Amino acid sequence: MKLEDMNSKIDEILKELTLEEKVKMIHGDALFYSGAVERLSIPAVNMSDGPMGVRQEFPKASWIPGGNSDDFVTYCPSNSAIAATWNKDLAYRAGVVIGQEARGRGKDIILGPGINIKRIPANGRNFEYMSEDPYLISQLVVPLIKGIQESDVAACVKHFALNNQETERLWVNVEIDERALREIYLPGFEAAVKKGGVESLMGAYNLIRGQHCCENKMLLKNILRDEWGYDGTIISDWDAVHDTKAAAESPLDIEMSVTYDFDDYKLANPLIEAVKKGEAKESDIDEKVHHILLMMFRLKMIGALAEERKAGCYNTPEHRSEVRGVAEESFVLLKNDDNRLPLSDKGLKELLVIGDNAERLHALGGGSAEIKALYEISPLMGIKSQLGGNTKVTYKRGYYVSPKEESQESWQEKSTDENLDQGAVVNARKQVSDEVRKKRDELRAEAVEAAAHFKDVILVVGLNHDYDVEGFDRDDITLPYEQDRLIEEVLEVNPDTVIVMMAGNAVSMGKWKDKAKTILWQWYCGMEGGNVLADIIFGRVNPSGKLPESMPYRMEDCGAIALGEYPGRPLTDEEKKLMNAHITEEYKDGIYVGYRYYEKYNVPVQYCFGHGLSYTTFEYSDITAVIDEFSVKNSKDKYQDGGEIILDESIKDKMAAKVSLNVKNTGKRFGKEIIEVYVGKSDSRVDRPVKELKGFEKVSLEAGASSHVTVELPIMAFSYYNEAKKNFVAENGKYQIYVGKSLEDIQKVCEVEI
Ligand code: BGC
Repeated sequence: MKLEDMNSKIDEILKELTLEEKVKMIHGDALFYSGAVERLSIPAVNMSDGPMGVRQEFPKASWIPGGNSDDFVTYCPSNSAIAATWNKDLAYRAGVVIGQEARGRGKDIILGPGINIKRIPANGRNFEYMSEDPYLISQLVVPLIKGIQESDVAACVKHFALNNQETERLWVNVEIDERALREIYLPGFEAAVKKGGVESLMGAYNLIRGQHCCENKMLLKNILRDEWGYDGTIISDWDAVHDTKAAAESPLDIEMSVTYDFDDYKLANPLIEAVKKGEAKESDIDEKVHHILLMMFRLKMIGALAEERKAGCYNTPEHRSEVRGVAEESFVLLKNDDNRLPLSDKGLKELLVIGDNAERLHALGGGSAEIKALYEISPLMGIKSQLGGNTKVTYKRGYYVSPKEESQESWQEKSTDENLDQGAVVNARKQVSDEVRKKRDELRAEAVEAAAHFKDVILVVGLNHDYDVEGFDRDDITLPYEQDRLIEEVLEVNPDTVIVMMAGNAVSMGKWKDKAKTILWQWYCGMEGGNVLADIIFGRVNPSGKLPESMPYRMEDCGAIALGEYPGRPLTDEEKKLMNAHITEEYKDGIYVGYRYYEKYNVPVQYCFGHGLSYTTFEYSDITAVIDEFSVKNSKDKYQDGGEIILDESIKDKMAAKVSLNVKNTGKRFGKEIIEVYVGKSDSRVDRPVKELKGFEKVSLEAGASSHVTVELPIMAFSYYNEAKKNFVAENGKYQIYVGKSLEDIQKVCEVEI
């Protein structure tokens, strides 16, 4: 149906709706539904978390899941894992799985992907997010959304915006300069809206420049609706709305929350009263309903269209095979001295596997991203099931994780309680009783003793969802449960031990990384994770992921702490008068987030952005960069204004330079390589990072085969955000184009003149 036809139908429906019915549609009428208007056959909007598949079913008004047997699903790789593939096609295919499963479960909106920038390595939700780099996010989020939305279900990109920490997530006010906002924090969302066509978007909990995000005029009106032309549905995060009038006036469309008093939500009865008193306008409500109905038409939720709507499906063998494919490319081989991996399973008589993470199932944890997986293959299960009966696999737990206390209430019900003591939870994780210490010592001693007697040892360590969890940041990035000590002692008696680091967020490996021969990174990569790990360990799959984020040595090394104010400071008296916040945090690190900071300020990291090895080797040759049409056509007169050209919509995507090279697989086995292209301007008139990712390509090559690769760079790749001109601009002059295997492993620097 054409947009104008949809709009005129919507106008007709709006005339029929009463004020009460309209208000019903714009707030939660259940924990995961908005209100329906049966009289006019307008259905409720049925939503579900989240980024790693479709969450289990909740009753209308209870955070205790129904315990049904029909809501097990395909557990998909996390967004971090998807980002580590650097593979746009796989992002799309992961999206198709999530979309089909969501539709198959009868959902209209799937509450993902989460694309907040990984600004601090300790953010408890980093595992749900993609990267520290806006370009990588933008490239992957678009196909992911398209894949999801193919099933007549809406993706919901979240959390808009600057929700970069869990500490005081509801009450931190972010102050940020416009350049950092535009260059780092908004591009992923802008791509989701303009290129991905995302049908819904979730506002964040925090405040920006004194106003809560879900009521924020600058963010939702000026930028999202007016500048980007977004006409999709804006949903609040659960309990992120604070004021009826402000929310009514803002472009927010649906208020959702965590409590069961649906009629008392800010956009429920209080809004009806406000309209009656003349304090809120019914026309503002009409606009919200308009957006919701538009989404309903686009998703074929109403009218005759509903008959054509795709049905979706869940738990199919195809979905399991697809998520396995994504997981395969997400593992990152950080180190592999002496080609310790892959191991040969031929004639392998015995193998020792150590580590709680080898045996732990992770799907049903982490907060709202939890998944009730149809199954989850643990590392131990993957290894054992592939080796079969001729190899004796011995397992030692190695470190002790206290079991979680079972609670009848769900954490989510209390998650937005203003008196929630996040610090107490974080501190409690560190309290170690004598009993726990004793258990740890015993488990470690047993594991180390065994490691000394085995030739082949796989040590699976890392984090779990006690730490990679919504609502809480870690206060440092050292491994919990005294794992450093375990790793060091195991390496001492068996230096050939293969270390599998399973985590969704950076951890410090500095104490032992130089002593280890092999470190393989595994994300929460879905239900097939253990099978894929075994495939990689035994060489059936060649790892091809690269880090979508830097791995700093210490938490304090990152720009947000070294330059910034993370996690925030108390409000000044003036600020207290102006805003409803607990703390303020000025993002003094500005554009210096992730590698942009480490590189500019010469801070060494354990493993750099874009790093990842393979079992084969790749040689790059004939690397050249030439300027393209755009630079030739735009003669000097366009640059009169201080040597800068303003990049308006009509020229942003025009090609400005083309990089080409040959890549050869010089090893003995099939492999995939990611070619990374960064752009820098050493003589820039403005402060700039040394270089920034602006292009990449992933190629598959048989042993001995070569491929000619080209990476096109639009003029945006050469730009920075000019605050005075309120626009991205490109300076004229010379630029360096770095072509490499990672941020630090640059094969050639070419120069072009724009
Ligand atoms: C989270 C959202 C999630 C929502 C619904 C909130 O706590 O921040 O990401 O979608 O709950 O579960």
